[in-house]
Amino acid sequence: MGIFTKDIKTMEELFLHGLQDIYYAEQQITKALPKMIDKATNRDLATGLKAHLEETNKQIERLDKVFQKLDKKPSGTRCPAIDGLIEEADEVTGEAADKAVLDAAIIAGAQAVEHYEICRYGTLIAWAEKLGHEEAVRFLTTNLNEEKAANTKLNNVALRKGVNTKASTAA
Ligand SMILES: [Fe+2]
Ligand SMILES: [Fe+2]
Repeated sequence: MGIFTKDIKTMEELFLHGLQDIYYAEQQITKALPKMIDKATNRDLATGLKAHLEETNKQIERLDKVFQKLDKKPSGTRCPAIDGLIEEADEVTGEAADKAVLDAAIIAGAQAVEHYEICRYGTLIAWAEKLGHEEAVRFLTTNLNEEKAANTKLNNVALRKGVNTKASTAA
C-alpha cells in the first residue's frame, strides 16, 4: 500500500499505515543490529548495540499491544526508507578497512536509524493523541524515549569514548 494511493482516506487509516511502517522498520532493525554488533570493535559500542537489540524486541511487543488495542492484527508494510538506511549502513561499513573508522561508520549508520525512528514515533504519538488512542500514546512514548536514549548513547560513544578520536588518527 503506497502512502499516496487512495487506500488511505482517514486519519485513522493514516495512523494505522504509520504503525505498520514502524512495525516493519523495527523488524528490519532486529535483523540489521546483529550484523553491526559483529562488526563493531569498540566494546562500549558493541554493548550499547546489544542492549538496543533487546530493547528493539520489546518495542515490537509494545507495537503488538498497540495493534491489539486498536483491534487490528499486527502487520508490517514495506518501508523503503528504513531499507535504504540499513542498506547504506551496510555498504559504508563494508567499505571501511580500518577498525576504528569502521566503528565511526557503524555509529553514523545507527544514528541515522535512531533519528528515523524518533521522527516516526513523534508523528505517531501526535496522531494517536488527536485520535484519542491514549494507550497507544503510552506505548509509543516508551519506544520513543528508548530511541532517544539510544541515540544519546551512540553520541557518547563517538564523542567521549574515543571512537571519533581513534578513527581520525587511523592511517
Ligand atoms: Fe526501535
Ligand atoms: Fe532504535
